[in-house]
Order: sequence, then C-alpha cells, then structure tokens
Amino acid sequence: MEKKRIALLGHRFMGRAHSNAWRQVSKFFDTPYEPVLQVVCGRDQKDLQQFADQWGWAEVETDWTKVMARDDIDIIDIALPTHLHAETAIAAAEAGKHIFCEKPFCNSIAQAEAMLDVAEKAGVVHYLNHNYRRCPAVFQAKKMIDAGELGEILHWRGAYQQSWLLNPNHPIDWKLRKKTAAAGPLWDLGSHAVDLAHFLVGDFSSVTCQTTQFQKRRPLAENPSKKGDVEVECSALMLAEFTNGAQGTIETTRYASGRRNRHTFEIYGTGGALTWDMEDMNRLKFYSEKDPRETAGFRDIMVTEPVHEYVKNWWPPGHIIGYEHTFVHAAADFLRAVESGQRIAPNFADGVRITKVLEAALNSSESNARVFL
Ligand SMILES: NC(=O)c1ccc[n+]([C@@H]2O[C@H](COP(=O)([O-])OP(=O)(O)OC[C@H]3O[C@@H](n4cnc5c(N)ncnc54)[C@H](O)[C@@H]3O)[C@@H](O)[C@H]2O)c1
Repeated sequence: MEKKRIALLGHRFMGRAHSNAWRQVSKFFDTPYEPVLQVVCGRDQKDLQQFADQWGWAEVETDWTKVMARDDIDIIDIALPTHLHAETAIAAAEAGKHIFCEKPFCNSIAQAEAMLDVAEKAGVVHYLNHNYRRCPAVFQAKKMIDAGELGEILHWRGAYQQSWLLNPNHPIDWKLRKKTAAAGPLWDLGSHAVDLAHFLVGDFSSVTCQTTQFQKRRPLAENPSKKGDVEVECSALMLAEFTNGAQGTIETTRYASGRRNRHTFEIYGTGGALTWDMEDMNRLKFYSEKDPRETAGFRDIMVTEPVHEYVKNWWPPGHIIGYEHTFVHAAADFLRAVESGQRIAPNFADGVRITKVLEAALNSSESNARVFL
C-alpha cells in the first residue's frame, strides 16, 4: 500500500488521541494509504522523545517550520493550542500539505477566512476535527433527520458541560488566556456544539449570549505561588435562531459539578424527537409522533449494529465503542479524501461558519444585544 507520511504538531492530550488513530486506522478500515508516523513536533525535547518512543513516531522536531519544508511529509496534523492553528495551517497549505486540524478552528474570523482561502488556493485536503460528528449515533441522528423522521425541526438544545475548573487551584494555562484560547468554554466546547447544530439543524440567523466569571484569579502555571487574572469566561449561555425557523440554546461550562464531559443535544420536531449524550455515546433516544398513544415513549436505540455507520469495522453488535474511535473514523475518512480529492466535512469552510457564530456570541455578551449573522 502507498504510504503517506505524517508530521504531528503537539504531543499531549490530543497528540495521544491522534497518534492512536493513525496507528489503528489501517488495521480496522480499508484505507487507500498506509499512514506513517514520521515526525512529532513539540517544545520540550525530553518529553517529546518519550512520547515518540511510546507512540512509534520515527523522529522528533522542536521547530515546526522545518517539517513544512520537507518534501517527504504529506500530511500536517495540528494538535496545538488554538492560537497556533492559523499560522501552522497556512504554512502547511502553502507547502502543499494536506491538513488535519484540531478545533476550535482558530482565534478570529479574519484568521478563519485566511486559512480557508490559502487551503482552497493550494488545493489541499483540509479537515477540521469536530470528531463528535463521527460517533455512529450522531451519524444515525443525521440520517433520521434527513429521512424526515423528525418532521420540521423546531428546537435545538445543546449543552457541553465539564467540571475541571471547580478545582480553585487549577492553574492558568493556555486555555484560560485570551491570546491563546480566544475565549473560554464558549469557544472550546461551544465550537463542538455549534458544529453539531450546523450538522443536524442548519445555519444560525442570530445569537444572544450571556457569559459569567465565577473565579477571577488563579495560580499561574509557570509560578503557582503567584496568582493571575483569568482572562476568559467561565460559563456561557446562548440563545439561537436558525435560518429554517428553529430556535435553540447552547450551554457551555467548566463548572458543572459531576459533569465530566457531558456533551448532549435534544432535537424536537413536528414529527418526533432525538436526544444524545456523549457520556452514553452508543445510544440514541428517539420519540415518534407516529407511535400509537398507548405505547408511545422514547425508544432506546443501541447504535452498535453493522448497518450503523463505521460500526461493522469494529466489534459484534452490542460491543460498544468509545471516544477514541471517533478519531479513527476521522482518520479513515481523511485518507479517503486525500485519495479522491473530494471534500471532507467538517472542513475549513465549516471552520469559518462556526467562528462567525462564536464571534457573534462573544459580541453579544459584550454588547448585551442580540447579534444577527
Ligand atoms: N477534539 C477534541 O475532542 C479535543 C479535545 C481536547 C483538545 N482538543 C484540541 O486539541 C488542541 C490541543 O489541545 P490539548 O488539550 O492537546 O493541549 P495540550 O496543552 O495538552 O498540548 C498542547 C501541545 O502543543 C505543544 N506546543 C505548544 N506551543 C508549541 C509551539 N510553539 N511549537 C510546538 N509545539 C507547541 C505543547 O508542547 C503540547 O504538546 C487544541 O486545539 C484543543 O482545543 C480537541
């Protein structure tokens, strides 16, 4: 099988998830290429070498600009803090590399549009990793909506709740600084929720958003004996209207006790309803207005049958899959897009769409006004 050589930028949380996906993808999916884990980039040489040895990367590099200049690298995989996405993705596209980029897409609409423009002009495959689209249950929800099972969609209720900032001593890292993260959970978690709303409902026409700060000062990561200002919101609530007339809400927080990674949606239409929760990601709950009154109720669909998207590549029915599988699915679809030259979704155009909604929400919270898109 022909090989495609990958350079991974970033080697902590997402670096692990991506390495795992590249290692597994050709074992479980019929891919047109064999991905080669060629070089991993990061800042700390010692950590990096340990990571490379553990995950099977052939080389390490502390200067990402060097990998862009290499002819033997086909794919740049960006798993860096958000403020570095624009610079690295633009350099990758200019060097003719295909791009697998983590979310949130970038820090501003201006950056988003520049990234899309350069990637399109270069003719490279560009993918934005909103991996929850690739949960089989989410894919099944999309299929049912497209088949008209929900009728006309009236309500979207999205929530992404975590709790890690309930620890008052959690230090200020890149996720709590405006320059590196653009915003707080609105950007980090809200980008996923907006992507799923785009996927399952459609475009937004207006947003109204309120943000709150529960803890303004925290220890500094670089010197925990000192405290600094938290520069981003702690929680954000958004009201939304969609161009198709549906109404929605999106709730994002890092302060929801007991909620570790609760990413959920509820969709209500004239013909029925669908609900999903990432913490129970193999199930979809479906209510149909067509069911007889006597027995109507939410059905529990286990999305683990070979007929469900991606599932036949894994285990027999009922043998559930998890978070990491969504990255393998993304890697498989990405390699197919590289072969066919077809667009993969979500891509940088979706990144622009999502960034516009998030920036409108931030503007709304700052101006105390509804913002139209
Ligand atoms: N799709 C998901 O489910 C998901 C989940 C978590 C994080 N993410 C995204 O993944 C990205 C990375 O997040 P993370 O949690 O892995 O962050 P992290 O802080 O754990 O890791 C960041 C990595 O970037 C490296 N880095 C920072 N500056 C660098 C530079 N100038 N040059 C080279 N390397 C540099 C660090 O050494 C580290 O390896 C973010 O965009 C984040 O939003 C996505």
